Amino acid sequence: MEVIISKTYEEMSALAAREIANLLNTKPNAVLGLATGSTPLGLYKELVRLHKEEGLDFSQVTTFNLDEYVGLSHSHDQSYHYFMTENLFKHINIPVQNIHVPSGTALNHLAFCQWYESRIKECGGIDLQVLGIGSDGHIAFNEPGSSLGSRTRIKTLAKQTIEDNARFFSRPEDVPIYAITMGVGTIMEARKLIMLANKKNKAKAVALSIEGPVSCQITASALQLHPDAIAFVDEAAASELSMRDYYLWIQKNKPGAPRPQ
Ligand code: F6R
Repeated sequence: MEVIISKTYEEMSALAAREIANLLNTKPNAVLGLATGSTPLGLYKELVRLHKEEGLDFSQVTTFNLDEYVGLSHSHDQSYHYFMTENLFKHINIPVQNIHVPSGTALNHLAFCQWYESRIKECGGIDLQVLGIGSDGHIAFNEPGSSLGSRTRIKTLAKQTIEDNARFFSRPEDVPIYAITMGVGTIMEARKLIMLANKKNKAKAVALSIEGPVSCQITASALQLHPDAIAFVDEAAASELSMRDYYLWIQKNKPGAPRPQ
C-alpha cells in the first residue's frame, strides 16, 4: 500500500481530491465510492472548490456511498444521505439519479442489499473508493470480526463506534446500533482505494492497518491485499507508523522514477 504523509489536514485533503480530479479528467463518467464522517469533509470541500473554480465536471459521474444507519430516512439530519447532500451533492453538478446511498428505511433489507450490489455491477463497478478508518480499524461499518469477504449487509455496530457517534445525537437512546454497509469484499472490488486518516486518535488503527497482519479484527488491513490502494494520512495519524521515514523517502523519490515513454 502506498502511504502519503501530509503536514496538514488541508494538504492531505487536497492530495486526495487531486486523485479524484485526475480520474474524472481521464474518465468523466467514472463511478466513485464515497464515505461520510469528519475525515472526508476537507476532501469534499476541495472537490466543491475544484468544481466551482476550475470546472471539475460531475455531470456524468455515478456515486455509491458505503453505508447508512438503519432507521434514519434520507431527510434525517444525522443520516449519511443528508450528510452527503449537505457537504457535496448539492454543491456540484451530479445528476440526482446517479447518486446511490444505502437506504436506512428499506422494508426488505436483504433485497435492498442484493440490489445495491447488483446496481454497482450494472454501473461497471467502482473506479475509486474513498474510505475513512474508525478508531477500531473499521472501514465502512465493517467492525472487528467482519469477514474480509463480506458483502453489503446489515451490521450491528461495535460499542466503540456507537460511543464515537454519540456526539452527533442529542439523546443516547437515539444513537443507531445497526447500519447497512458495503462489505469488505465489495470494497476490495473497487479498482482503486484511497483511505484517509487524520488526528492522533487514528494513529494506532492506521499503524495496525498498514503494518500489522491482515486480520478481520482490523478490517482496514485488507487494503494490504489490494493492488492499488493509497493511504493519505496527516502527521498525527502517521505518528505510530514504524516505517514512517521509509514512506517519506518513497514519497520524495517516487515522482522521479522512470516512466514508460
Ligand atoms: C463512514 C464510514 C466510516 C468512517 C469511520 C471514520 O461512511 O464508512 O467507516 O469512515 O468511522 O469516521 P470519521 O471520519 O468520522 O472519524
